[in-house]
Amino acid sequence: MSEIKVLFVTSEIAPLIKTGGLADVSGALPPALRALNIDVRVLVPGYPQVMKQMGPAEVVATFPDFPGFPASRLIFSIMKSGVPLLVLDCPALYRRDGGPYMDPVTGHDWTDNPIRFGLLSKIASVLGSDESPLSWHPDLVHGNDWQTGLTGVYLSVATGAVPNIITIHNLAFQGNFRPKKVELLNLPPESFNVNGIELYGNMSFLKAGLYYAYHITTVSPNYAREIQGDELGFGLQGLLRSRSSDITGILNGIDTDEWNPETDPYLSDHFSAGRMAGKAQNKQALQSRMGLEVNSDVPLLGVVSRLTHQKGLDLLLEIAPRLLELPVQLVILGSGEASMQKIARDLAQENPGKIAAMIGFDEGLSHQIEAGIDLFVMPSRFEPCGLNQFYSQRYGTPPIVHNTGGLADSVVDCNADTLREGTASGFVFSGMTADNLFATIQRAIEVYRDERKWKALRKNCMTKDFTWETSARAYREVYLKVLGRTV
Ligand code: ADP
Ligand code: GLC
Repeated sequence: MSEIKVLFVTSEIAPLIKTGGLADVSGALPPALRALNIDVRVLVPGYPQVMKQMGPAEVVATFPDFPGFPASRLIFSIMKSGVPLLVLDCPALYRRDGGPYMDPVTGHDWTDNPIRFGLLSKIASVLGSDESPLSWHPDLVHGNDWQTGLTGVYLSVATGAVPNIITIHNLAFQGNFRPKKVELLNLPPESFNVNGIELYGNMSFLKAGLYYAYHITTVSPNYAREIQGDELGFGLQGLLRSRSSDITGILNGIDTDEWNPETDPYLSDHFSAGRMAGKAQNKQALQSRMGLEVNSDVPLLGVVSRLTHQKGLDLLLEIAPRLLELPVQLVILGSGEASMQKIARDLAQENPGKIAAMIGFDEGLSHQIEAGIDLFVMPSRFEPCGLNQFYSQRYGTPPIVHNTGGLADSVVDCNADTLREGTASGFVFSGMTADNLFATIQRAIEVYRDERKWKALRKNCMTKDFTWETSARAYREVYLKVLGRTV
């Protein structure tokens, strides 16, 4: 018998549907929780990508049209990881071409996103209350980000409701909409209140999530502190400060099977801390694939990222002319803001052999970049956790990161002391300026040129423990605390 039953609610899950790190977490945390004897099942919208790839499936419930929502049904399937999946099939809301959040034709968010994610929250609350048609009843509902934010509001008026928690992966995305949606979504009218779901005159999914949840987690301890301050609180710092004792920061782990340089099917050669020849082979293959000069000696810098203000890559693009004077190469994989895409493309075109850019989303190439480059550049303005700095370290690629959020919690700056202690694992800079980034890249290249230090640094990176087990145990403690059971 499982100790705890948890309904994990998410708007994306790898490998079925992914736009960012939330998918990686949703794909990897539930199996790690199940390994701790927690019966986790995942509720996810039935986008075409999910419907097509979900494997053998069975309809387990049909829902009438709840006021405000079209009819829907629940389909049960099992992920390759062994995690049971509850797919919320609602063709009117989810079965359409394009991304989970964005209309590819207009380039804007789907206009019915409040209804789409209102339904996800509504069904999560139904499954966590006496209304559930399933024989499996969770002890707790665990939501993620604004898309699940209304769960607690619906649970607050349901009979037999179980407690719920919410994990913040990114406070910058809040799901704020005009107040008239309150009626459309059939929310209790009294919830539209500053002590409720209202945020500066709008209704806010995330504010609702934070207000109604029994407990709040964030994806790194440092970010848990930062969001209670004015700089990174995104207007919610007051509420977060008032709930300070209910907030826990738990650092993400990574899927160490998916990201394993010894077995990764995307790599041209495999390698490990004890056998680094394979990494040199991957560098050569990457240089050749991306049209860079094939040269084992030149330091190769890389980026895999959403190209948005958050990620701070404008600083990297700004220092590109200075970088070009150094013997370095740069490869960029990313998509996002049109202006940044254009700068990256132009830089690559004007500097063939030295800078390469691939605009788009390419899972295989992201693995090849992590394996083939020497230094990963991640100058995020803010970063709730970040995953690529973990992947880099595991692939023997010290990351260069800004001192913020989860980056500060997971990368140890390389200096004489940390090298001596054997903890150095990358390069950390404070002060979000182009000059600071440039100076740190220069500092990293100096270490790259020192064979003894470089070997030690890469070894430290590759022998760190990034498995989900420790984080899963921390989530278990939160669950037990919320359920009032002893830890
Ligand atoms: P965020 O979720 O804020 O974008 P994370 O670092 O947590 O940042 O996670 C990003 C995830 O998305 C990583 O797994 C990263 O490799 C992946 N990723 C981002 N951009 C691309 C891209 N253009 N192609 C392939 N994978 C990408
Ligand atoms: C968000 C954050 C990122 C985090 C990811 C997974 O996308 O921007 O920092 O790693 O969620 O938790």
